[in-house]
Amino acid sequence: MIYLDNAATSWPKPPAVLAAMRDFAENWAANPDRSCHRMGIESGQRIAQARALLSDLLRAPDASRIVFALNGTDALNIALKGFLNDGDHVVTTSYEHNSVGRPLAGLERAGRISVTRIAPQDDLTLSPDAIRRACTDRTRLVAVTAASNVFGAMNDLPGLALAAHDAGAAILVDAAQAVGFMDIDVAAAALDMVAFPCHKGLYGPMGAGALYVRPGLDLRPLREGGTGTRSESETHPEEMPYRLEAGTPNAHGLAGLAAGLAFLRETGLERVRERERALALAFSERLAGVPGVTIFTGRNQDAQAGIVTLRIHDMASQDVAAAIDSRYGIAVRGGLHCAPGAHRFLGTFPDGAVRVSFGYFNSENDAETAARAISEISRAAL
Ligand code: ALA
Repeated sequence: MIYLDNAATSWPKPPAVLAAMRDFAENWAANPDRSCHRMGIESGQRIAQARALLSDLLRAPDASRIVFALNGTDALNIALKGFLNDGDHVVTTSYEHNSVGRPLAGLERAGRISVTRIAPQDDLTLSPDAIRRACTDRTRLVAVTAASNVFGAMNDLPGLALAAHDAGAAILVDAAQAVGFMDIDVAAAALDMVAFPCHKGLYGPMGAGALYVRPGLDLRPLREGGTGTRSESETHPEEMPYRLEAGTPNAHGLAGLAAGLAFLRETGLERVRERERALALAFSERLAGVPGVTIFTGRNQDAQAGIVTLRIHDMASQDVAAAIDSRYGIAVRGGLHCAPGAHRFLGTFPDGAVRVSFGYFNSENDAETAARAISEISRAAL
């Protein structure tokens, strides 16, 4: 199998991730931070290590501002529902993933908030000036993607943060496709909240996400319950990160995440970016000029994730994805990618498109084979 669906989840995981999860399950899988025995302490240390490495990666001023969640969607819900008040105005994009779009639409339809949605520019990035123009004196939040999961164009986070702050609003970034690829410095970019899953560019397993919340910003907890701290108190603790975490966490997954983050630190973001971009570029170049193939990606290669989205003639995108799988053994994703607005913008709604997403472990041969497969399917349909 050639796996080119890394934007959905990265695969394979580095061997150290699998080894760490196995070691955890075999030796240390006690409930973390609840009991004082050695297994419980070791288990808690795996989570503390994942938190510290993540804090380093984002240059967070304090590791306690990193909150673990169930997944990226959960992290975004904690941020949106813990931050927004009735009557707030939110500026977002028209091409967000449903993990941002649906919670906002739900609050909007309930009459609790109002929302303005901004389309990307022709180069598929978001303009800070467009954010400025959309903000009003009631705007309390700008919620934007760092990089589209459909076309991969990366946004200027410091510029967007400045635009939000100039309008007196906070900024929440959905970094699902950017974390572990784009250099995100939360302090330098002045980001208020950053949410993401841990199973894509961070190489952890599925079932864990995280939210960075800047010091001084207080969110209402979405969930309350056991934290292993202040058990005598009838109310949920105020201290971060426990204020926004409750119940037994996915310690198996976070043990794997710690190893994934260590792998990323040894490898370096730049090397990851260079490899994934080179593969995406080689793939796109091989398809340039192939009759019937239309490619949708950002124009600036230096601000592009390793995602290439395309259509072949008017063939249904899910049929193309299924044919690439069954005839060539290549895994890609068709359809709308949970981001219908992105496809509306591209003109590929409602059928969607075929998304080919490269990862660090792909080879040039994978890119070449996939390009040949697309080219053959396109020529056969002429
Ligand atoms: N959000 C994931 C994707 O883009 C699942 O495929």
